[in-house]
Amino acid sequence: MLQINDLTFDAWGRRFFDHATVSLPPGAKVGLIGRNGVGKSTLFKLILGHLHAGDDEISLPKNARIGSVDQEHPATPFTLLETVLEADEERHRLMTRLETAPPEEMGEIWGRLIEIDADAAPARASEILIGLGFTQDDLARPMAEFSGGWRMRVALAAALFAEPDMLLLDEPTNYLDLEGALWLEARLQKYPHTALIVSHDRELLNNSCTHMLHLANGKLELYVGGYDDFEKRRAEKARLQLSAKAKQDAERAHLQSFIDRFKAKASKAAQAQSRMKRLAKMEPVATTIEERVAPFTLPSPPKPLAPPLIRLEKASVGYEAGRAILKQLNLRMDLDDRIGLLGVNGAGKSTFAKMIAGALDIQQGELHRDKKMRVGWFHQHQIEAMDPNDTPLEIIRRAMPEASESSRRSKLAQFGLGFEKQETKVDSLSGGERARLLLNLVAMDAPHILILDEPTNHLDIDSRRALLDALNDYEGAVLLITHDRSLMELVADRLWLAADGSVKPFDGDMDDYARFVLERAKLAVKPTQVDREPAKAEPAAAPKKTVAVEPLRRKVEAAEQVMNRCNRNLVELEEQLADPDLYVKRPDKVAELTKRRDAARVKLDEAEAAWMDVAEQLAEAES
Ligand SMILES: Nc1ncnc2c1ncn2[C@@H]1O[C@H](COP(=O)(O)OP(=O)(O)OP(=O)(O)O)[C@@H](O)[C@H]1O
Ligand SMILES: [Mg+2]
Repeated sequence: MLQINDLTFDAWGRRFFDHATVSLPPGAKVGLIGRNGVGKSTLFKLILGHLHAGDDEISLPKNARIGSVDQEHPATPFTLLETVLEADEERHRLMTRLETAPPEEMGEIWGRLIEIDADAAPARASEILIGLGFTQDDLARPMAEFSGGWRMRVALAAALFAEPDMLLLDEPTNYLDLEGALWLEARLQKYPHTALIVSHDRELLNNSCTHMLHLANGKLELYVGGYDDFEKRRAEKARLQLSAKAKQDAERAHLQSFIDRFKAKASKAAQAQSRMKRLAKMEPVATTIEERVAPFTLPSPPKPLAPPLIRLEKASVGYEAGRAILKQLNLRMDLDDRIGLLGVNGAGKSTFAKMIAGALDIQQGELHRDKKMRVGWFHQHQIEAMDPNDTPLEIIRRAMPEASESSRRSKLAQFGLGFEKQETKVDSLSGGERARLLLNLVAMDAPHILILDEPTNHLDIDSRRALLDALNDYEGAVLLITHDRSLMELVADRLWLAADGSVKPFDGDMDDYARFVLERAKLAVKPTQVDREPAKAEPAAAPKKTVAVEPLRRKVEAAEQVMNRCNRNLVELEEQLADPDLYVKRPDKVAELTKRRDAARVKLDEAEAAWMDVAEQLAEAES
């Protein structure tokens, strides 16, 4: 499917790809893996043509459609469902043509719409959106009502819905909760075309991928299987390489000693010469062992404070007076606590973290916090809020104003940001490099409590392990929010659950929680499934009725879409005509716009009549 042929790419004083060659089989689900900053996102830019490699170094079959998720998603007035539906370009084009095409073309357009099963599109789009965590009611709300993170999910839904021949996803689970990540895993397994997915999420790599594509030292290597298989294969390869290297080293030593002994002896000089040649020709055995990632340093607090660190009694917290997000909080934390905070997106986990961090006051009840308590709070907004023109060196200058330049630089190196990255703008740092910098900064002052809100997003697998090691050595309290199941299991010794407007201790372990989450997801998806297919438990006569109703319902949805579009078209033309400047500056356009507005009115009338018609039929069938 995707062919990379002898790709060499240099940028920013480094070689990213060094004669890399690989071919992805059609239909494969390939996990693109490698260290933070190694060039995975750069490879996506090369495939998408945002960066340029040499001719023919990257090729795809003719007419293959590539799809990816952009980083920015405008807060448009269009609904989530419309946004996703529009991602299917052909369907969108046909639907738009329906509005203006002359009658003789209608048959052809409808024919093609039926061929591509356009009727089923709204149901398919809804299913994807609901799988990614939206409710049925959300689907009709405009994009503008959702935060950036949620709009990313819509973009992911749109990419999945469009089903491109080559789907590119860059760390898709970063903006999902556990529930969404589990759904995506299942969805990707069934994806009908080829997919290339950058991920540091071991579960996703193991459960959804058929291959691993490993990027290291400028080379791309394809392995069959998931991440665990890859690790085994690579360890085996490294072992073989090491033993080959040991053998070669022994032979080298042997040749060298022969040369040294007999070089001076005339009778043996020829043999010594030929051995010297052999030695010179010997290619060193390459070893694939990567450098160790830099460890995290989480300095422990010097003096313990008197317990409890934090105590909450009947507390409530929220952003607007009278509207508490969390109520009835009765909890305490001590210095040796490792608490894992669970809950779906929107349950109030980050609000809770903000309150514990002291950045949000309680509205009612009591919150006791030791005044001397130092808090280290890491959250994703910090990454988003970084000034794109800042550099690591500038940031550390502000954090260590008294220190010398060389100790600041060595601090950054200790964080894992080598000399060459210290003056790179934040904008150009990779996701993992930014996360690493912030995590280290947050913990620099030896806090009594570390609040980590999704700390592993962006970190590569080895860095996640390094973070885990550091957390195990850290002696303060930890409040952890993560969708990384294995990290949660290994760090938290108590679980709290944010749900139903409060936070309470969760009675169970992570397996219990995963079951709880999947049960809930099943319940949430049910209404759409009932929409699409007859419910199994219905009385014998019911399925027939549902079968008759279902195509009508789809027709109503399709008609509604057309009506909305006509309406938007009309509103836009009316707005243009309402502009007084138009009559002064472009009087020639007035007549044309008026004609188009009148035509749009007629179209809208027709669309409304068509909608009324099917809506009535549906109402009748339903009754
Ligand atoms: N304009 C630039 N100037 C200097 N360095 C740059 C620039 N753009 C990118 N880089 C560097 O190139 C590398 C880009 O890596 P890329 O974003 O492809 O990494 P990645 O493999 O996707 O990493 P991650 O896993 O952290 O997302 C980083 O080390 C980054 O600092
Ligand atoms: Mg990246």
